[in-house]
Amino acid sequence: MTQFPQDLKNSLINELEFFFGNDKLRINHAKRVLDFAEKLLKYEGGNPRIVIPTAIFHDVGIKISEEKYASSAPPLQEKQGPPVTEKILKKYYFTDEEISNVCEIISHHHSKRFLKTLEGKIVFDADWLVNYGDQSKLKDREKIKSIINKLFFTNSAKKIAKSLYL
Ligand SMILES: [Fe+2]
Repeated sequence: MTQFPQDLKNSLINELEFFFGNDKLRINHAKRVLDFAEKLLKYEGGNPRIVIPTAIFHDVGIKISEEKYASSAPPLQEKQGPPVTEKILKKYYFTDEEISNVCEIISHHHSKRFLKTLEGKIVFDADWLVNYGDQSKLKDREKIKSIINKLFFTNSAKKIAKSLYL
């Protein structure tokens, strides 16, 4: 895996914290997604210059869509996320191509069918590794197994999900 500089990662996390301010819940969510995304990068490969910023900023649109429309509906927040992310990534000299890949994933990160790249699949899986644990109340092992097999793209995410939630 190509290395991603620790100080750049820290700077992006600082930007996220600045952006969300007191909203610790969203900040912690993004950090947990980032942790899983980094694990998946290790097992699955993928470009860290796309995966890491996407994991960090994937939900920034929520804040704006809540302010503008009092709603966090996916189509609204998916539209609001890319401009903020682009502005931040430009400050850190990400290339136009990298920024456009990151924003493409952010703008579809709830819709499996639009996620065609490995990087998009990794961020989707990392987000669901967090969300599944937070949301599911299921107890039936067979049901959980079948949901996990359908939900996640990557085998590594399926393995992690089974070890955590089965
Ligand atoms: Fe998320």
